[in-house]
Amino acid sequence: MEKQTELYRGKAKTVYTTEDPNRLVLHFRNDTSAFDGEKIEQLDRKGMINNKFNHFIMSKLEQAGIPTQVEALLSDTDSLVKKLEMIPVECVVRNIAAGSICRRLGVEEGQVLNPPTFEFFLKNDALHDPMINESHIRTFGWAEERDIEQMKALTFKVNDVLKALFDEAGMLLVDYKLEFGLFEGKITLGDEITPDGCRLWDKETRKKMDKDRFRQGLGNVVEAYEEVAARLGITLD
Ligand code: TMP
Ligand code: ASP
Repeated sequence: MEKQTELYRGKAKTVYTTEDPNRLVLHFRNDTSAFDGEKIEQLDRKGMINNKFNHFIMSKLEQAGIPTQVEALLSDTDSLVKKLEMIPVECVVRNIAAGSICRRLGVEEGQVLNPPTFEFFLKNDALHDPMINESHIRTFGWAEERDIEQMKALTFKVNDVLKALFDEAGMLLVDYKLEFGLFEGKITLGDEITPDGCRLWDKETRKKMDKDRFRQGLGNVVEAYEEVAARLGITLD
């Protein structure tokens, strides 16, 4: 299916319409952003890696019975997806403390979180994606009651599938962010799952292998993403 007109340009992906009103093309760019778009750089090969990575992970989730938007890999940097009516909240599960929870709650990075925590954030860069709760979602009508419950249940189900997948490949799934939408009325996983939107540490050394390398200026960002892909057996080129 061919790309038609640009519908939306996000920080790392551009979304195009297609001849089918219910299908879109996601184009993964090399742009890498952090701190709500304050820091942006082009990282060679990142768009291709994330497109293939996302397709691999989403396919694993589909096989596990989680409805996702992904339909087909179209090229190195493009994927065909279902057109979802997006819910403007982000769902974050944390297995190990890192990032904002350490700053907010004074928790030490690396502390195991048992049971894992679940947090909602509002998708709004101008407001720096503030943390919200279910009451806000209800009051402002960002999602229906049934959809709130399903987003939580599916986000935890993703944790079971991905923790095991990364564990077998010698990595710890520290945390991740998911976005959902509705397709024909049904809650469906949208956006992407790539090292841009999750934290992955080497199981033995705890080396960071995700976008924290970019946020924290640790270097070798693309090399780390490639290593994650290689460990999972994803063919890149
Ligand atoms: P945080 O520690 O900054 O709250 O992020 C938790 C995880 O969710 C981390 O893997 C990054 C991801 N995330 C995004 O990718 N985009 C976002 O807007 C937010 C809030 C989190
Ligand atoms: N919302 C943030 C951003 O992309 C999350 C991150 O730092 O990755 O700017």
